[in-house]
Amino acid sequence: MKTYVISLALLPLAALAAPTRWVTVDTQILQKAAPQKTMKALDQANGVTLLRLTEAEIEDLSDSIHHDLHRCGGYVGHDSEAEAREALAPRGDTQFAVKALFADYAINQRSTVSGMVAQVQAPKIQQTIETLAAFNNRYYKADTGVQSSTKIRDMWQAIAAGRSDVKVELYQHSGWPQPSVILTIQGSSRADEIVVLGGHADSIAGGFIRNRARAPGADDNASGIATLTETLRVAIANNFKPARTVQFMAYAAEEVGLLGSKEIANAYKNQGKQVVGKVQLDMTLRKGTATQDIVMMSDFTNSAQNEFLGKLIDEYVKVPWGYSRCGYGCSDHASWTNAGFPASMPFESTMGDINRKIHTQDDTLANAGGNADHAAKFAKLAIAYMVELAN
Ligand code: BES
Ligand code: ZN
Repeated sequence: MKTYVISLALLPLAALAAPTRWVTVDTQILQKAAPQKTMKALDQANGVTLLRLTEAEIEDLSDSIHHDLHRCGGYVGHDSEAEAREALAPRGDTQFAVKALFADYAINQRSTVSGMVAQVQAPKIQQTIETLAAFNNRYYKADTGVQSSTKIRDMWQAIAAGRSDVKVELYQHSGWPQPSVILTIQGSSRADEIVVLGGHADSIAGGFIRNRARAPGADDNASGIATLTETLRVAIANNFKPARTVQFMAYAAEEVGLLGSKEIANAYKNQGKQVVGKVQLDMTLRKGTATQDIVMMSDFTNSAQNEFLGKLIDEYVKVPWGYSRCGYGCSDHASWTNAGFPASMPFESTMGDINRKIHTQDDTLANAGGNADHAAKFAKLAIAYMVELAN
């Protein structure tokens, strides 16, 4: 107790010495991975601990979680104490009541969806994964992180060429060089209602020299971006013109605390944009669970939309699916949930069967099965979601 008070008193001094950020971490993970850091806690509630740490301490914490615990452990960086404190609030559908649910989750586009789903080509997804994994890394501060996001912009631009109702933009962030990418298919009749399909563009590996470390990130998350790219290709090949606006997003800086998606989701919230639904594709490549092909994360997501996705799988993908939990805000869907929008994350396996090569130089296509057959199921689901929700 005494130590706690002393460290609180010392914090303003520490803040003068080096720039700090607010970080929220799963309390159990923090206690196991870095017990000494619990002394620096500013607050704690609902299984989440709030800390104020220097960048070096954050890297340190990240390493402890990844190397000592051999798992991914959610810590989230925040720009202000107020924002960090919001992350201490209890989670779930009741707390984060959907502000405006415009969508009914009806399935009534069967002929359009079936025709499009049949056109999904796993080799095209594989090709995009190989292109992205060929960058040394896609780290948010590295030159190759900027170049790889520019490459995603160029790939999406090439697919959309010739459609005046489709535009592709880099979304610049103020705090780091890597941009996010946003492609917009303008809605034909309900344009101010937006359906978002996203995944993170960045990759990460290495302890000290992350800027230069080899981080192919084939599964995490070239696979999600490649799955979105195939969804887009099929949409444009079929001259898909949605009633609602559809946006494809490739977020910067997910691996360092969901930074890119947080900026975008909060901007959408502050601008009063109406996001009808958001699906996150982060890791679609490696089939890790024998009995389930698609696993819906049940935490930090919207349960009604999750059920809708389950119905879409039964109707159009026809593979076994189930539920699992991250236990923390493990990817960009959490940014959208926190901003008050219905978000879901269909994932490649249960948490018990996760790909242990992620965040290393061994997160390669070869180590995740060598082809994109598993990812193709997620492209089919994404097509079904896009067409059914946007029409
Ligand atoms: N793709 C992972 C999240 C993930 C990993 C989900 C394994 C399910 C199973 C994501 O890119 C990631 O690494 N997230 C971080 C958390 C983030 C807040 C920094 C993590 O899990 O450590
Ligand atoms: Zn990751």
